[in-house]
Amino acid sequence: MRNLLFEWPGIIYDGRPKRRTAPVLTSPYSLNIPIWQSATHASGLDKDQFRLSLAPKFLLFVSWKVDSMSARVSLREIPSKNIFRKNDVFVLFGELFGRGYANGLVEEARKNGMTILGITVGRRDENNLLRPLTEEELAVAESNLGGRIINIPMMAGFDLDAPPGEPTPTDLLANMTLKSWQTDTLNWEHIEKCRTAGIKRFRDSLDQVMQSLDGMIPDGSNVFFAHTMAGGIPKVKVFLAIANRIYKGQGDRFMSSRALLNSDLGKLILMNFDEVTANTFQYLIEGSARLRTRLEGSGGQARYTAYGYHGTEILIGETYQWQTYTNYTQGYAKMRLERVAETAWDSGIKATVYNCPEIRTNSSDIFVGVELSLFPLLRALNQENGGDWTEAQWKACRDLLQEGATLEELLGKIDHYNASETMQKFRNFEAWPMDNSLELADLMIGTSDSITQMHKDRKALVTDHLSALVLEGTGPLMFYETSAPAGPVIWLNHDIIAKQLVALHCK
Ligand SMILES: NC(=O)c1ccc[n+]([C@@H]2O[C@H](COP(=O)([O-])OP(=O)(O)OC[C@H]3O[C@@H](n4cnc5c(N)ncnc54)[C@H](O)[C@@H]3O)[C@@H](O)[C@H]2O)c1
Repeated sequence: MRNLLFEWPGIIYDGRPKRRTAPVLTSPYSLNIPIWQSATHASGLDKDQFRLSLAPKFLLFVSWKVDSMSARVSLREIPSKNIFRKNDVFVLFGELFGRGYANGLVEEARKNGMTILGITVGRRDENNLLRPLTEEELAVAESNLGGRIINIPMMAGFDLDAPPGEPTPTDLLANMTLKSWQTDTLNWEHIEKCRTAGIKRFRDSLDQVMQSLDGMIPDGSNVFFAHTMAGGIPKVKVFLAIANRIYKGQGDRFMSSRALLNSDLGKLILMNFDEVTANTFQYLIEGSARLRTRLEGSGGQARYTAYGYHGTEILIGETYQWQTYTNYTQGYAKMRLERVAETAWDSGIKATVYNCPEIRTNSSDIFVGVELSLFPLLRALNQENGGDWTEAQWKACRDLLQEGATLEELLGKIDHYNASETMQKFRNFEAWPMDNSLELADLMIGTSDSITQMHKDRKALVTDHLSALVLEGTGPLMFYETSAPAGPVIWLNHDIIAKQLVALHCK
């Protein structure tokens, strides 16, 4: 039998089962088993005692379950430990945009008096060459971040890289048309050379960034690296048209996400997603090894976080249930990101991917319907006893609707949507990320459109308000959990987000 205690991250990560993150075994039959039970934690058993205390038959049963199901670790209680003090250093690995998730963490770092440092992905000049920010751009970015930015371009991915004088992947894609892309092929040997060139460029720049950071972080400090990078869609006309159909197309305009994944174009895009979304986290962890060793050798600690997405539990009916946006094409890269954190964790590095709820940001706006899972947050706030403050959130949302449209009617549409057979089929954690379907697109995009039409102004949506709340909730949850993280992959669901918001605003 496999040694579950060490091989299955849902039970024990560092030999110390934690009650505040409840690992849950999930199955297509919705069986939920909190695995170690509170007694082991309450009695303070260490890992060997814990192992011995379990009857062999129980372990066999769990082993069988683990083999046939997948594990999720969700934060269930608000964390409060904090190792970060004034003058410790927070490093944002990615740029900060107005509505982006990273704002939540930056805000906590600021509140705790940390020195905030950032990087830039750089900009492309008229010949597509990567350049640092101009003085003016740098000043704007630094004032937005509230800290210094190391001005070395850290654009990830290899869509615009190639050995000198040779075509980039973007050049190759430029020949594809809407008629030809499904049968067009790519020269994979050449693509591999471009990928190698892109990785070398990124890692060389990362070395320079780390040298600068080394001079900025004193011995004994704690450092918090927050990875926020995700993306990698090559900028070619043909993909814009395809994306419009896959993520926004209904009826005759619908296109299957499987068609994309089966094409060479799709395979290239997945490789680029892996580079930007997942591998950069690994490069960050590896590239900062010397700095980490110096800090740890002088009494400090290093922590790494990254933003994941792997579906979210939201209130459906009376219970919190896992659901997801489909088709989340970046899902393969996000699972790779989880593996990066797990591998680092296995060698003693505290790296944690926080799987966060769907919100509307610059990056997610392309996915019409991704916002539908946000509405039940309003009910979660009620469920977590949000009192007058929750009333005020309901009112703020009501005020965004047209005269005659009610929030109850809107939530009724969401109930109908979630109860539909179509959506139930997509609540399949093991099969994630599933391909889209015409039936799904018609229902999801149709519901999204009909809800948007209930608003007074398409530029001021209920989901803007709710996205800002989710972002606010994730900030302290991620910040404090990271002082003593329960494991390498943690889900932040609507229950804990609502609890955190209620704790912030009602006490
Ligand atoms: N929006 C959501 O619903 C959602 C849900 C769960 C997780 N996330 C994750 O949160 C993180 C932040 O995303 P966000 O939605 O707040 O949007 P955002 O647009 O604010 O952030 C995107 C980040 O990716 C970086 N980036 C984009 N292309 C890059 C490239 N080629 N090389 C290097 N960096 C690049 C940007 O600089 C920025 O820091 C991402 O990892 C995203 O996948 C988002």
